[in-house]
Amino acid sequence: MFDTLTAMPADPILGLMNKYREDPRANKVDLGVGVYKDELGHTPILTCVKKAEQYRIDTEETKVYIGPTGSADFNTLLSQLAFGNDNPALLANRVRTVSTPGGTGSLRVAADFIKRASSSTKSGEAVIWVSDPTWANHTGLFEAAGVTVKTYPYYDYDTKSLKFDEMKAALSNVGPDDVVLLHACCHNPSGMDLTKEQWDQIIDLTKEQGFTPLIDMAYQGFGDGVDEDAYGVRKMAATVNNMILCSSCSKNFGLYRERIGACSIIGKDTASVNIAFSVLLYVVRCIYSMPPAHGAAIVETILGSQELKQEWLDELTVMRDRINGNRAMLVNKLKEKGVTDNFDFIAQQKGMFSFLGVNPQQVAQLQQDYGIYMVDSSRISIAGIGTGNVDHLAESIAKIL
Ligand code: LMR
Repeated sequence: MFDTLTAMPADPILGLMNKYREDPRANKVDLGVGVYKDELGHTPILTCVKKAEQYRIDTEETKVYIGPTGSADFNTLLSQLAFGNDNPALLANRVRTVSTPGGTGSLRVAADFIKRASSSTKSGEAVIWVSDPTWANHTGLFEAAGVTVKTYPYYDYDTKSLKFDEMKAALSNVGPDDVVLLHACCHNPSGMDLTKEQWDQIIDLTKEQGFTPLIDMAYQGFGDGVDEDAYGVRKMAATVNNMILCSSCSKNFGLYRERIGACSIIGKDTASVNIAFSVLLYVVRCIYSMPPAHGAAIVETILGSQELKQEWLDELTVMRDRINGNRAMLVNKLKEKGVTDNFDFIAQQKGMFSFLGVNPQQVAQLQQDYGIYMVDSSRISIAGIGTGNVDHLAESIAKIL
């Protein structure tokens, strides 16, 4: 039966990782996959993670099954971090959370949940609206679960700004049976976030139209801060009846390979969220049965200790400041190398990514001639920049422009 298969193209982001690893050039630069890197190009294990991990290894007594919900402590602490301790939805006991294998696992759980929930709507069709552009894996992931993916305007490649009016106009036509995916912060791939005022308007629109918001929060703390980055999530949760939140601990806890994230659902009241939760648990059982526990144990140890939590916030600030510093450094270096095109937008955008704004031929040229790796769309992972490679990077960009 395998003989009927045709080969799939390599994943646009992960395929790049392999190409980069195989490149023998000493001055190669990796601006591909979204992982934090320090000045030496290394992705470190956070000190608070090391401490929490050691504590868990010393005290862990069993490896018995954890159950489809995952760790209750992790679920409580992570939802408090996302929604804020005093969020009315949490206080009203309208939130239920499961631990998931990474942010992608959370999105897949959400996708299967949406598919099931949509079977009882008028059209029976499951539809999710995603920003144009969005994370490359969103589309494949939702389609694999049988959810139709539609797009709303978001980023203007010419003016390097948000198409906010077009976004609002498109969402004004979305009905109550559909789901709209929003990025909580650090929009992947554009780095272009909603302002607080824009969030307020989108939240009002969500309430008016009655669609279900799904907020993807993969970078809490990488934009302006843990609380600042959760503005939209918290206000949306406090305002609407139904909501889905997919969060990830890959980036902000540096736990990439441990695969830990969470999927939270909010119902209109406790009785209704309990029913929805039973569906969520059924979905989990049908995909992977139970989530891995190690990453959750680390995160709950950190968030449950005042001292470790403070250490984590400090380490997160170092990562955030370095990324923001890299943004400004690249913009200045480009000017220094005589580039007259305006790249100031890179310094204003948020999080791990921005589009450089060059065409696919120029992206290929940067890779072939200068060993600079980025996704075809010209999305660059800002954490891959450092004082050691910024000259080579800016000179190479100047040459291909
Ligand atoms: C990225 O967008 O580079 C990251 O979220 C990693 C991934 O899985 O694609």
